Amino acid sequence: MVESLSNMSTLSELNQEIARCLLCEIAKNRTNTVPGEGPEDAEIMFIGEAPGWHEDQQGRPFVGPAGHYLDQLLASISLTRRQVFIANVMKCRPPSNRDPLPTEIQNCQKWLDYQIDIIKPRMIVTLGRYSMARFFPGKSIGKIHGTAVRQGDIICFAMYHPAAALHQQSLRQAIEADMKKIPAVLAEAKNVPDAEPSPQQSSMF
Ligand code: URA
Repeated sequence: MVESLSNMSTLSELNQEIARCLLCEIAKNRTNTVPGEGPEDAEIMFIGEAPGWHEDQQGRPFVGPAGHYLDQLLASISLTRRQVFIANVMKCRPPSNRDPLPTEIQNCQKWLDYQIDIIKPRMIVTLGRYSMARFFPGKSIGKIHGTAVRQGDIICFAMYHPAAALHQQSLRQAIEADMKKIPAVLAEAKNVPDAEPSPQQSSMF
């Protein structure tokens, strides 16, 4: 997925590089970079949008209200955050939690690529539209949430962002129902022999 891992073959080496990144203006105002966290051999990667205030302060992903809700969602399928990798499209907090700019997303893309290359997850769960746009280009979250596509060896599964679901009851029901599909999608992914990497997506569900 990436050109070369050069000297970044572990997550801790990668995190050091991320901490040095100054490609975007927003790097000047960060307290911490928020690379993501979880086991290097995680089967599932959850990918959100960008760090908020709490995440910027602590250098950890999803530690504010949306994170507490994500923890509950994980518990609903008998998972804890220690068993999965949690990352974001953006590794720095956009000021005032504004939407990330296209150039910022582009600058940050390589870090997520490196993470995926090191972790080699079986399944990527996109949380919200920015991460969905990366793995389900041109799709609408309202139409594809709760569905999966295979991209090479990885099954990508789209979900609403927990922060959106916290504030809208209808999304809350949807995100909770979608979360419960994850074990079956993962089991199905493990049943399918490893595929040749291909730019074409094939729908699983
Ligand atoms: N929202 C995100 O998308 N990521 C976080 O880490 C926290 C809130």
